[in-house]
Amino acid sequence: MGNSTNIFWQECPVGKIERQRLLNQKGCVVWITGLSGSGKSTLACSVNRELYSKGKLSYILDGDNLRHGLNKDLGFKAEDRTENIRRVGEVAKLFADAGLICIASLISPYRKDRDACRAMLPDSNFIEVFMNMPLELCESRDAKGLYKLARAGKIKGFTGIDDPYEPPLSCEIEIIQKNGVCATPCDMAGEVMTYLEEKGYLQDQ
Ligand code: ADX
Repeated sequence: MGNSTNIFWQECPVGKIERQRLLNQKGCVVWITGLSGSGKSTLACSVNRELYSKGKLSYILDGDNLRHGLNKDLGFKAEDRTENIRRVGEVAKLFADAGLICIASLISPYRKDRDACRAMLPDSNFIEVFMNMPLELCESRDAKGLYKLARAGKIKGFTGIDDPYEPPLSCEIEIIQKNGVCATPCDMAGEVMTYLEEKGYLQDQ
């Protein structure tokens, strides 16, 4: 329990089941984790587009974007990252309860923080997707120029350089390079779509 006392849970007769029926899908969280530059946002956008083209409602919670608003008071030290992930986990839980397929895309470097988000979701509706790309690849892309700054010591505590990344021990989906080649965003999204389809998330019953 937090600091709020004397509070009560308010129930409403229109619930998750009714919303899912309306949308003909099941609410869940697709949680994409991996290093900066590993392709999390690209995958999130591709999955979002695929779902949209199938008439399914999804919403992306992107780490960088949320740090412009909801999480703008947080930095990158361990406690701040933990609070960042906790907040996004709570928001993702609300979106899933609303019946949406919520795609969260954050480095989320600590295993215990991701596991805490998983534990928040009822009925194991937490699908962890690990962008397992080598640091050298992420660094060579360096779309935002941040690896260069981190190597030069101008950014301290950069994930993968001088701050840890703890890979998942067991995740639902792992995206890897095959024979040193990256799958296209479309193919990667296909892996996630197949999973969602097979597990029955793309219909309400
Ligand atoms: S998390 O570690 O708390 O999950 P989050 O996904 O919200 O991180 O934000 C990561 C983004 O912040 C990166 O994509 C990068 O653009 C930027 N960033 C700035 N400083 C750092 C840092 N020290 N470590 C990692 N990412 C950083």
